[in-house]
Parts: sequence; C-alpha cells; structure tokens
Amino acid sequence: MTKTMTKRLWIETVGCQMNVLDSELVVAALRRQGWELAPTQADADAVFYNTCSVRQHAEDKIYSALGRIRLEKEKRPGLVVGVLGCMAQKDQALVRTRAPWVDLVVGPGQLHQVPRLVDGILAGSGPQLEVSLDRKGGSREAIARSFESYDPDRDPAMRPTPFQAFVRTQTGCDKFCAFCVVPRVRGPEQARPPEAIVAETKKLVAEGCREITLIGQTVNSYRWTDGGKTTRLSDLLAQLDGVAGLDRIKFVTNYPRDMTPDLIAAVRDLPKVCYYLHVPAQHGSDDVLLRMKRGYTIGEYMEMLGRVREELPHAAVTSDFIVGFCGETDAEFQTTLDLVSTARFKNSYIFKYSPRPGTKAFERLPDDVPEDVKKARNQVLLDAQTEASLADNLPFVGTRQQVLVEGLSAREERREANPGPDGTAQLTGRTMCDRIVVFDAPLRLVGRLVDIDITTAGAWALAGTVADGLAAAVPLEDVHQVHQIAFGPQPAARSGV
Ligand code: SAH
Ligand code: F3S
Repeated sequence: MTKTMTKRLWIETVGCQMNVLDSELVVAALRRQGWELAPTQADADAVFYNTCSVRQHAEDKIYSALGRIRLEKEKRPGLVVGVLGCMAQKDQALVRTRAPWVDLVVGPGQLHQVPRLVDGILAGSGPQLEVSLDRKGGSREAIARSFESYDPDRDPAMRPTPFQAFVRTQTGCDKFCAFCVVPRVRGPEQARPPEAIVAETKKLVAEGCREITLIGQTVNSYRWTDGGKTTRLSDLLAQLDGVAGLDRIKFVTNYPRDMTPDLIAAVRDLPKVCYYLHVPAQHGSDDVLLRMKRGYTIGEYMEMLGRVREELPHAAVTSDFIVGFCGETDAEFQTTLDLVSTARFKNSYIFKYSPRPGTKAFERLPDDVPEDVKKARNQVLLDAQTEASLADNLPFVGTRQQVLVEGLSAREERREANPGPDGTAQLTGRTMCDRIVVFDAPLRLVGRLVDIDITTAGAWALAGTVADGLAAAVPLEDVHQVHQIAFGPQPAARSGV
C-alpha cells in the first residue's frame, strides 16, 4: 500500500484482558497491511468496537456507541463500522438488525479474517459477518475448529506499555457455570502448544518485554498432551521461568478446583512467578454455589485457600463475587459477606447478577432478586472488602518492596504532565504480589524494577519512596486516586494507547 492510500483505524475495547489482547492483535494485523491508528475517531476510516457480553451493561454501552456512530456514518458513508468479539458471536445477525449501519460483525474465534473482510468491504462487497458455530451447532471437533486461536505476530507499538504483555495459554471454557456466557461466546477450551507460548514469550522479551501475564478463562486448567507427555500450567511456568531477560510471570484466571499442589509449589519455588493468585470464589454459600454450578463447596474452597496460605504466606489472593444471583436470600448473602470479612482477599471484583440468554441460569432460574436489593448488597460487600483490603495492606508500611514501574499515576495522567525523562513525576508500579504502589521518581525509571520503601497504605494502593531516599513520600489522598486504575471499568483501549 502506498502512503497516500493509508487507512486509519479507531478501536474501542471493553471487557477482559482477552479482549485487550485481541484488539492488540487485530491492530497489529491491520498495521501490517498499511493501516495506521487514527488520532481521533473523527479521523478514522474504520471504527471498531471489541465487545463484551458478560453483563447486560457492557452490551448496552456498545449499542449506545453504535447509535452515536450512526450519525458519523450518515455524514461519511464510506466509514467502515465493525463489531468484534463476544457480542458479535452472541448476537450475530441481530447486531445488524438493531444497527443496520454496521458493516462488519466478527466473533472472537474468527478474528484472523478481519483484514480480508475489511479489504472486501472497501472493495464494495457489502456487509460481512463471520462467527463460529454455536456450542450445539456440530461435533465437538467442528465447533472447536470454528473457534480458531488468534495469535499472530505481535506488534510492540500496540501494547499499553512496551515492557508488559498478555500471552494466551488457551481459548474458551468448558466449565459452564450457570450464570456465565463465556463458554458460549468463546467456545470450547483449547490449549495452545507450550512451544508456541514459550516462543512467543522469548520474542516478546527480545522486544524489551519484562513481564508477561498468561491469560486463559481457567488458566490453571491448562493441559497439553503430546506423545504421551502432559504439560500442565506448573510445567509451563517452569519453562517460562527459564527465559533469560524475563523478570516476572503472572497468570489469570484460576479455577478453584484446579489449584493443585504442583501449581502452588511452582509459585513458591520459581523466582519469576508472582505471588498473586486470582481465584474467584463467586459466593459464600454451598446452596448458591450449587445453583451456580461452580463445582465446589465453600469447604473445598477454604481447604484450597488454606493450602495456599500455608505454602505461600505472602501471596495476595483475589476473588470475584456475584451478588443477587437467582434466589439469593439475606442469609445466603450473609455467607458471602462473612467470607469477605474473614478470607483476607487483597481485593475482590463484585458484580450484580445479570441474566444472560443462552445460560442455564437464564433458562431455568428466575432473576428474582430486585435491582435495589442487588445494589444494596453490592455496596455492603464493597464496603466489607474495602475494610479487608486496608487491613491487608497496612502491614506493608515500613517494608521494602520491589516494584516494576509501569508509568505515570492517574493524577499525573489527568494533569497531562510531561516532565521529560529526567523530570520527577508521580509514578505507579506493582509489587510481586500485585499491589499498586505510587511514588515520586524520575520518568526514566519506567519499565525498571525499583526498590520502594513503603510509607503509607490505603485500601487500594501503597505509597512510598525510592529506596535510595531521593524521592518524597506521597500524601494519602493521592493513593486513593490510583484505585481507578485497578478497579474502575477497564479503560477503553483506544487508538494510540
Ligand atoms: N474465567 C473468566 C471469567 C469471566 S467473567 C475470567 O477470566 O475471569 C468474569 C467475572 O464476571 C466472573 O468471575 C463473574 O464473577 C462475573 N460474571 C460472569 N457472568 C456474570 C453474570 N451473568 N452476571 C454478573 N456477573 C457475572
Ligand atoms: Fe465463566 Fe465459569 Fe468458565 S465463570 S469463564 S464458565 S469457569
């Protein structure tokens, strides 16, 4: 493509890390075909939305964005509007029924087709739809084949920071929790070969990456069997720990039942693996866990947590919870509240139940907890977790922590400060146990591992000074602002980030 023909793309991403990675990869593929990122949406030749279906709210946001882009499309009929990801797979042709000005609908298992489809649309082929088979739409092999893992060559320019990257271990999920649409929209669980994961990691490290986060819906269910030899997540971590130049390895999300002793030992023994385990409990009551079809009792969860605490006393454990699930009584909600008050989670992501068509809960259980009760329970649980998080953070005051410096803090981002590489600014980074730390330091420390003396703890973050004593302590008010980075909705991965 010649320079004058360069097309410009704007992409907005909602949802989980899988979507952030998918957007990175789609943009990389289009850049190889001569596309560039547009500085603003108004400059774009194509506007894509990479979507999420986990809760209704995420879908509503996309349909309202599509309503707004319609006006732009009326002004510029040549603008290509694309809906990618989970909502494309879930709603399929319905996306174009509701928003006929959409040109492109592509599910997460068909993203490799995007460059070809966009070319087709620009050449006048009309609207394009590519989705995978439904979970009952054929043999297991045929369904699995229709959800292709999309892991083409990376493009370092596309990552939020050049020294951190997501690496996919597997696609899909076979757990079928009663509330969850993911198995439907992301397809059967399919592992990537360990060699591909290690090779991708080595390539990322050669490009300057220092931390990788392995991602899978249930990452610790990872299994790859080849010639009678099985590679589990613990084996994969051992291989990755040997990659020279890599500093840190994280992995999300863990399924409680697959938190096996070999994995806990790997986290304990492998120096690069972070002391951070996201293991969603979802609820505190056996009856609700049964209705949710989570496959464990709270006793089993606590047994797992006990093993983690024993082997990894310094590990941070985090959870997800759903409040207001079908039939949840006050007494049942209280069990979740008790769990949060006693289990010492570093933090929890709390969601109000949102019925999802195509799930067992949607088909079989009434969504009978009123919205105002869901809202109230959400707040009560959030308050309990905030208190627990603060208690969990306080012991860090007075300790020295190694921090990977990620960039400017939220406060500096808002200020749009540009202190230059030697100028001092408020920076943010994370400890080995995934705690956010803010501190004043020269910008050139971004991307480096730095020792920080912790001086203050808030519920959402720690604050401190660079260990050589150069920087000043950060007041506590600023600590709370960092909360937005970790707990606000995923900032839309817009063009240019
Ligand atoms: N294993 C996945 C889970 C994806 S969904 C992962 O990578 O995290 C993320 C979280 O959203 C779940 O753990 C659950 O707490 C919440 N969630 C899923 N479906 C939901 C629904 N229908 N309503 C409310 N919250 C839901
Ligand atoms: Fe969803 Fe349960 Fe899988 S929460 S992603 S069905 S483990």
